[in-house]
Amino acid sequence: MRTQVGIVGAGPAGLLLSHLLHLEGVESVVLESRSRTAVEETIRAGVLEQGTVDLLTSSGVGERMRREGAVHHGIELRFDGRGHRIDFPSLTGGRAIVLYPQHEVLKDLIGARLAAGGDLRFEAATTAVEDLDGERPRIRFEEGGREQELACDVVAGCDGYWGVCRSAVPTGRRTEYVRDYPFGWFGILAEAPPSSRELIYTYHDRGFALVSTRSPTVQRLYFQCDPDDQVDRWPDGRIWEELQARLATRDGWALTEGPILQKGVVGMRSFVCQPMRYGRLFLAGDAAHIVPPTGAKGLNLAVADIVVLARGLVERYRSGRTDLLDTYSETCLRRVWRAEHFSWWMTSMLHRFPGNDPFQHQLQLSQLQYVASSRAAATTLAENYVGLPMEQPDG
Ligand code: FAD
Ligand code: PHB
Repeated sequence: MRTQVGIVGAGPAGLLLSHLLHLEGVESVVLESRSRTAVEETIRAGVLEQGTVDLLTSSGVGERMRREGAVHHGIELRFDGRGHRIDFPSLTGGRAIVLYPQHEVLKDLIGARLAAGGDLRFEAATTAVEDLDGERPRIRFEEGGREQELACDVVAGCDGYWGVCRSAVPTGRRTEYVRDYPFGWFGILAEAPPSSRELIYTYHDRGFALVSTRSPTVQRLYFQCDPDDQVDRWPDGRIWEELQARLATRDGWALTEGPILQKGVVGMRSFVCQPMRYGRLFLAGDAAHIVPPTGAKGLNLAVADIVVLARGLVERYRSGRTDLLDTYSETCLRRVWRAEHFSWWMTSMLHRFPGNDPFQHQLQLSQLQYVASSRAAATTLAENYVGLPMEQPDG
């Protein structure tokens, strides 16, 4: 088997890359270890930056998102029992975000690739990527119990944090930057009407809590928990009690409860692998970097990488020019580190750290007060949250 671009992983990064390349006449094969159902049903991100929304729309996969997604023009920061609204359009020249679940984006991309006759293989697990610094890279994978090989010009490592591509880069040729946080997020999906028109990020003595949404009838809520917490330690009643306590306000706002449809614990980590290229292997999305979810950046960063990578690959095939590919890592890492800083900053401002002393608590409150009351500070939050403009490399 042979193709131009061999893509490992059918998450947002891999599927979007395959879609954008197809629009420009570049051939690819996507190899995904999980089943199509698993990919389409895993609950993850929910917030799309303006740039992500614009890209999905302009590349022809935004129709359902336009219809079913919800445009949000701000978020609430809640602390000391009071809410403070951050208004995006007035702080960012009219920008906003859209709430549309990641797995719905994936369904739209899979639908578009299959309708176009794309070669998308589920339950096809990559076991090795080889000859990355030579002329003929290969991807070895297992499909239907058989070992197979895909020869390609370039390998796109879009296989997430736990994938195999990053580890194919010799350790002497990559630097990894890591920060683990001493807490996790307990996430639930609940069948209930929305309690708020916008997302609520709450700082409370008992820890962080977040009110998000999925649809008019399904809500997504998170609260800070122990990183090793177990779902069975949290019966429904205890979850609602904790959320009610952290989200309580002085003005009688009420959190609407409902049957809990799903529970899970998410780990929190910041990670960057540098550079994002080794020979003919290009890492993109979570394979190269992850952020704690507090800034809602992970999916959007994956999309931003792919915009740069697709442009570079198209240029390579169209004119033979490789300068865009040569600067791929450098171009992406500028945005990646901005998002790393923003996600770390939001996380540090909004969570209770074990052993937090009263001094630290007062510093966090002061920072929150400042963001809530200073236009300059609120602008910093807003412009990072809605997303900085997509990279426009020279040339
Ligand atoms: P992934 O989505 O991880 O896709 C990688 C794919 O590769 C997977 O399908 C995997 O099965 C496959 N794979 C792995 N190994 C192999 C192999 N050996 N062979 C073949 N296939 C393989 N981001 C936001 O922007 N906004 C948010 O609001 C947000 N909220 C989040 C909430 C939660 C609870 C979580 C967990 C994450 C959130 N994120 C958010 C982060 C976002 O979901 C990720 O950053 C995004 O999924 C990254 O996309 P990706 O394509 O790089 O990787
Ligand atoms: C979500 O809806 O899943 C979500 C929203 C905002 C975040 C993280 C996750 O910061």
